[in-house]
Amino acid sequence: MLYGLMTEEINHSYDGGLYAELIRNRAFLDNGMEPAHWSVVNQPGAEATIALDSTNAFNQELTASLRLTVTKAAPHQSAGVANSGYWGIPVQPGTRYRASLIARADPGLSGPVTVSIVSDDGQTVYAAEKLSGLSTDWKRFDVTLKTGKVTPTTKARFQLGLDRPGTLWLSFVSLFPPTWNNRPNGLRKDLMQMLVDLKPRFLRFPGGNYLEGDTIETRFDWKKTLGSVTQRHGHPCPWGYRSSDGLGLLEFLEWCEDMKAEPVLAVYAGYSLRGMHVNPGPDLQPFVEEALEEIEYVTGAANTRWGAQRARDGHPAPFKLTYVEIGNEDWFDRSLSYDNRFAQFYDAIKARYPRLKLISTIANEQPENLRVKSRKPDMIDEHYYRSTDEFLKMSPEYARKYDRNGPEIFVGEWAAHEDAKIKPWDRAARQQPPTPSMKAALGDGAFMAAMERNADLIRMQCYAPLLVNVNPGGRQWRPDLIGYDALSSYGSPSYYAQQMFSSNLGDEILPITTEEISVQACATRDTKSGTIFLKAVNPTANSEAVRIVIQGVKRIDNKGSVITLAGNPEDLNSITEPRKIIPVTDSLRDVSSTFTYTLPPHSIVILKLKAH
Ligand code: AHR
Repeated sequence: MLYGLMTEEINHSYDGGLYAELIRNRAFLDNGMEPAHWSVVNQPGAEATIALDSTNAFNQELTASLRLTVTKAAPHQSAGVANSGYWGIPVQPGTRYRASLIARADPGLSGPVTVSIVSDDGQTVYAAEKLSGLSTDWKRFDVTLKTGKVTPTTKARFQLGLDRPGTLWLSFVSLFPPTWNNRPNGLRKDLMQMLVDLKPRFLRFPGGNYLEGDTIETRFDWKKTLGSVTQRHGHPCPWGYRSSDGLGLLEFLEWCEDMKAEPVLAVYAGYSLRGMHVNPGPDLQPFVEEALEEIEYVTGAANTRWGAQRARDGHPAPFKLTYVEIGNEDWFDRSLSYDNRFAQFYDAIKARYPRLKLISTIANEQPENLRVKSRKPDMIDEHYYRSTDEFLKMSPEYARKYDRNGPEIFVGEWAAHEDAKIKPWDRAARQQPPTPSMKAALGDGAFMAAMERNADLIRMQCYAPLLVNVNPGGRQWRPDLIGYDALSSYGSPSYYAQQMFSSNLGDEILPITTEEISVQACATRDTKSGTIFLKAVNPTANSEAVRIVIQGVKRIDNKGSVITLAGNPEDLNSITEPRKIIPVTDSLRDVSSTFTYTLPPHSIVILKLKAH
């Protein structure tokens, strides 16, 4: 379980990221006075206006609609409305996009509506279809848009056009490209491939701060994220924008299923970011009940109340769940209520689900008076956002001081950044490239080596944040593991360091001693195959010749392999240069139980050796 992923709605991780919906503000709820991300598009001579209409709602959740009033239009002189997507609509060749609308019209207008993907300047039509049958009642329309041999671009928009005067209301407009495993309401394929390639054993969700919300009202209220997406109002996320809740609880669970990863479910525990807390006792009890119901939704048989709801939502089989985290970063709750809040959740969950392991969010390094004392958590979540230099310093001794009898440790958020003076949440961080450089990957490597050495106690760990939309305005935090725009994605050097570490892992920790002080290392062995994975990080500007002595084995095959990630500390990957720093695999010769290997400057190296 050591290598996993942490996720939340931050940096447009879902909306404008992994969640494959391409229409921004699809339900017309993300507005000021004007409909955001929607605009009028008229061909010369045509005339139309748009306005938000709160008197014409499709249902109680989708409380606004967009009124399009076309006063002048004719064939080849159309008027309509366009959506600019999340920094563009990605156009790919030979691709089928599923568009759907919920619309109604004034009497006398039945269509046709031309549904299209066109270039930003309106000159190129990438795909178009017509639909008709509008009536005065709300109706859903589905159409497939197919692109031909086009050059991929993000400089495109989604458009609805009328060729005659009339009034039309739109309540919900959606456009999906093909998704991972073809799931409806699914996830973006390129990003899923990158996540699957990390071989994650678990996914920690839904946060992070996104779990807590700025206020109790805006917490991740899981019940509101179930069922048809047209029944989800969405909610403000603490990172400065609204979440559509299109990626809701079931989608999180299916995402885990698609990665063959186990959920690590964080439940809201009565603390929100603006400092509000719910008093333990009767006030907190409804939230405890909500958590029990949520666990039943995840794990209950289809004949339980919430298991039945999950089955109705399309997933009859229960999901495997081992870990439940109670809250997030509750050391910020200076009312000191966490101990009692934790106890109330702990007692209720253990009474109904004795096998679940419960995670406290207050790390050992937090002041004594903040920590949980009235119960023994099964696990403690620690967070480390530090510079590479700080990680290099802390890693050699990391976790040595802890009691080996537990509680176990989950490093639920961590990442190395390059400059100790600029914190990930600072405004100044947003002036830096969105994803980290090779220097940061070296700090990550040293810390991962430390966690692997201590994996008897550090049972799980996950880098955070995972995802970032690199467009200006797309991000709130740096560094982030994977960057993308609407069309392309790339892994940072830190991504490749993670991938190297997580895909080369034995099931037995081998104790190591290092004499070379600047090199940080760890080793594991796969007991079935006998493969030893020896990982070393050389953060210095010099090549380091390391003498390797392997004890306690009869023999080592004289051939092995080596994977190297190396570069200049300032080297970055980016949308335009996605593979500047990537791991390279070579064969190794003349290996024996004692040999010398030279680590390149600024490198992370994994030696794969076969022991007998
Ligand atoms: O990972 C970004 C944020 O850092 C998380 O939302 C929060 O838990 C932590 O403070």
